[in-house]
Amino acid sequence: MEKRNSLHLAKRMASLEPSATLAMAAKAASMAASGIDVIDLSVGEPDFPTPAHICQAAEAAIRSGKTKYTPAAGIPDLRKAVAADYSRRSGLTVTPAQVVVSNGAKHSLHNAFMALLDDGDEVIVPAPYWVSYAELIKLCGGRPMLIETSIDDDFKLRPEALRAALGPRTRMLLLCSPSNPTGVVYTPDELRALADIAIEADLAVIADEIYDQLVYDGRQSPSFPTLRPGLAERTVVVAGVSKTYSMTGWRIGWTICPEPLSKAIGNLQSQQTSNPCSVSQHAAVAALTGPQDCVGEMLAAFQNRRDLVVGCLSKMPGLRLPEIGGAFYAFFDIKDALRRGQSRGIGTSSQWCEALLEKEHVALVAGSAFGAEGHVRMSFAASEQKLKDGLARIERFLTS
Ligand SMILES: Cc1ncc(COP(=O)(O)O)c(C=O)c1O
Repeated sequence: MEKRNSLHLAKRMASLEPSATLAMAAKAASMAASGIDVIDLSVGEPDFPTPAHICQAAEAAIRSGKTKYTPAAGIPDLRKAVAADYSRRSGLTVTPAQVVVSNGAKHSLHNAFMALLDDGDEVIVPAPYWVSYAELIKLCGGRPMLIETSIDDDFKLRPEALRAALGPRTRMLLLCSPSNPTGVVYTPDELRALADIAIEADLAVIADEIYDQLVYDGRQSPSFPTLRPGLAERTVVVAGVSKTYSMTGWRIGWTICPEPLSKAIGNLQSQQTSNPCSVSQHAAVAALTGPQDCVGEMLAAFQNRRDLVVGCLSKMPGLRLPEIGGAFYAFFDIKDALRRGQSRGIGTSSQWCEALLEKEHVALVAGSAFGAEGHVRMSFAASEQKLKDGLARIERFLTS
């Protein structure tokens, strides 16, 4: 019998892909470290510093000794602040017991899948989708059912497509609006049509609302459970401070869901990571309860950048992109460029991104990482100067 390495990997690791966005960012950083002038538009991270009053709250927490274990599901003040903020903005009343604070929204998503999925349960995931969904679902024993959407529908899941995807093992629907990677925002009516099917088919719903405050042109992005009676009982809302308050490194996200599930998620976390960082939790309380002008200021800057990026990209030959209503991504169709690049060995979105990085030193992420070959994602969470420079390089690459 063949002798196996004593550190051979578990079966669940066999198909686990590394995060493509983090991999691209690492490649861009290593080129920059070797002195190359790289414009990194690959990561989904606001470029603003975390607002000063939030940092001061963290410093005060350290100085006053708030540096010990906290309750696993989060400090009472933060659970209260999340519940109050969500209740005020959504109009639904949720209690602190319905909130579990975790190490970033990615961890919150993992917790929700762990708590709800049995082996073989199917989760409907509209594609293009955020890179981690499929991998996290698989890690928890579930099966991601990727449902292709079209740029002609602004990459939105149509009710007919959802209905057609339902089967005896369908357990859950995953929605992300405003969307990473496409930047599109579903209208309340579009969400209601999907909600009706979720109710009819008795599905659990994960509503990833991490970008809910980053919406443009005065749009609203109502929380999913507000759209129909009966949705709150079947929905886990996932959100956090990473994007709204430019706090990606602090690692604070949360789930909001009915109390029995919330308790189970808290138990899971108590065995798994214990509490999220105590200092970060105090910073997040300051973010939610302090002045909110910083959110409006960052939003205004993102909207200007969105206008700049859409203005330039839509003039470039052969590119198509959907209407960007929120978040900070432009997800554009490069199929025309790929057809032209085929003879030079640039036939996939990943080859296109590699060639762009090599020739023009601009880092974007291939659509294949989001389940949508033939597209690329550009983050516009970068200064206007960087964006202008990056867009000029992309145009030069396209026309060369
Ligand atoms: C759609 C979506 N959900 C969740 C997350 C995870 O957020 P966090 O950094 O708080 O873990 C991200 C981060 O990029 C995201 O884009």
